[in-house]
Amino acid sequence: MSTRKRILSAIQPTGNMHFGNYFGAVQNWVRLQEEYNCVYGVVDYHAMTMPYDPKKLRQNTWELLFNLIAVGVDPNNLFIQSLVPEHTELGWIFNCFCSYGRLSRMTQFKDKSVQSKEKANDDFISAGIFDYPVLQAADILIYRADYVPVGKDQDQHLELTREIAERFNRQVGKEYFVLPETLHTEIPKVMSTADPTRKMSKSAGEKHYISVFAEEARIRKQIKSAVTDTGDTPEGEMSAGVENLFSLLKAAGKIEAHTSLMEDYHTGNLKYSDLKGEVAEGLVALSTTFKERKADILTRKKEIKGQIKASSAEIRKRAQETVREVKELAGLSNVKF
Ligand code: TRP
Repeated sequence: MSTRKRILSAIQPTGNMHFGNYFGAVQNWVRLQEEYNCVYGVVDYHAMTMPYDPKKLRQNTWELLFNLIAVGVDPNNLFIQSLVPEHTELGWIFNCFCSYGRLSRMTQFKDKSVQSKEKANDDFISAGIFDYPVLQAADILIYRADYVPVGKDQDQHLELTREIAERFNRQVGKEYFVLPETLHTEIPKVMSTADPTRKMSKSAGEKHYISVFAEEARIRKQIKSAVTDTGDTPEGEMSAGVENLFSLLKAAGKIEAHTSLMEDYHTGNLKYSDLKGEVAEGLVALSTTFKERKADILTRKKEIKGQIKASSAEIRKRAQETVREVKELAGLSNVKF
């Protein structure tokens, strides 16, 4: 048995991977694989909580898996959530260890309810949106993860996960679950280059995200038109747009350029065009490698799908073991697999 600490993280299958997802999460996933025992899920059950198209869901799930492999995630560490149905079973059990009032106060529940209403245009809000964090707790605890690498926006979900674990442990009288901790990435939040006051995201529209597989010319154009200074930044403070460009530069690994341009900034000699030029170089270099790998993956789709089904089955064994033990502790009937 490996004594390495365990890591779990997950991502929703919503098409196209952008640099916000990559720098905010996935790049870190790739690095962590060297030091930890990692499992990473594509959470399709979570993607059903908002109004959605079933055909697109499966397509997006596979697309995301191909993308994750293209940017460097080891396929052996990947699973599809719906191929490990024990997540939902543990989710149900956890429902009974989680307070209703607590769930209704989650900020994401409030935000997502509004989004869902808009998207559904019949005011539909699924109970799945409400229950979303409980399934997320199951995703994490089912693998007894020590660490969960996520952005700051997930802090509330992690807190709830620990509360569920504590309540379960208390009620069954055993320190069964370890309390997982958040691992924040160095660049937790990548902002939209078109509006640096909001997060880079696909839902905000075309100009608010830069795809990691985009054409080189498009990446350059999007960086070139990035908002730098809107004139409302207080004296002596860096504007949100410039700050975002600097963090993109650093995230893209252009450390020397970062240091020298930062010097220019502090001496009042920074040319935005230089900063943008370097950011574009950095993003294009990464994107070129990713696109090459993606092209290769797309010629071996069938083989790779087989590989992911096999890794999901392997990872499922761990989930089954946890659910078996949890049912035992929770007083449910149980059979050995
Ligand atoms: N809620 C996460 C997000 O929106 C996705 C997610 C689902 C997740 N289950 C998880 C993240 C488990 C970390 C661990 O990004």
